[in-house]
Amino acid sequence: MAAGSNAPIGVFDSGVGGLTVAREIMRQLPEERMVYFGDTARLPYGSKSRNTVIRFSRQIVRFLKTKEVKAIVIACNTATAYALEEIQKELEFPVIGVIDAAARVAGAVTENNRIGVVGTTATIGSGMYEKALKQYNDKAKVYGKACPLLVSLAEEGWLHDTVTEEVVGRYLKDLQYKSIDTLILGCTHYPLLRSTFHKIAGDNVTLVNPAYEVAMELRSLLDSQGLSCNEEVGLAGKKYEFFVSDAAEKFCEFANSILPYDIEAVQQINIEDFETEDFREETACRKM
Ligand code: DGL
Repeated sequence: MAAGSNAPIGVFDSGVGGLTVAREIMRQLPEERMVYFGDTARLPYGSKSRNTVIRFSRQIVRFLKTKEVKAIVIACNTATAYALEEIQKELEFPVIGVIDAAARVAGAVTENNRIGVVGTTATIGSGMYEKALKQYNDKAKVYGKACPLLVSLAEEGWLHDTVTEEVVGRYLKDLQYKSIDTLILGCTHYPLLRSTFHKIAGDNVTLVNPAYEVAMELRSLLDSQGLSCNEEVGLAGKKYEFFVSDAAEKFCEFANSILPYDIEAVQQINIEDFETEDFREETACRKM
């Protein structure tokens, strides 16, 4: 049976990065319930293969379905790049990712059509941003830069730290030579480092964080499908539920430092219990 309009929205990421999207949903859709899952045991996703990210995403979707969600937001660029299309084909309710919204905004705000994208190795390697940007701005020149160290720094909470500044500076150097005027923060962990990006990139570069647009897109999608919540739920009434696959206490502390409401509990679950099929892959090793 399809979930009704008062059912929660499912949101997931590999860790705390998706909280930047959850925070925006809380602000823009305050009437909606939400179930968030952070795959903290298996982070980072950005260095994993497509098949693995699809498998992890399917498990999470299966878990979220047990919560009877009415829609899912993949609040992770890596999982959006690798798994969104697959998941959309498999589900009978709305699923949205974060790449399309960011590309739409960046394609519209650039003045010199030179757009930088920072993200995980997987997201940049997938070429999905380039593909999406071409749809919105066919003159756009897109320069991608993988920044694998930044997810760990964000998860560690080193949001305003000289080490983080140094690392961001090294990563942005290549893009600065390309005279970009717009930079997509193409990993949901990076908006947590926004002030550092701004400091290094300077006032002439517009930073694009898709969280705001994703929440707006979600609102119109729910409206158009008659799925917007029409019931008042107080904060006490389990409006928001948080689940992780590891380190619940650390996640809880971090979430409370960035969300508009304090969360009281984070539950740890074994996400591998939600495996969808017997998954074994064998790869022959090449002889050296
Ligand atoms: N926050 C995620 C993203 O937007 C994943 C980061 C990671 O786990 O590597 O890509």
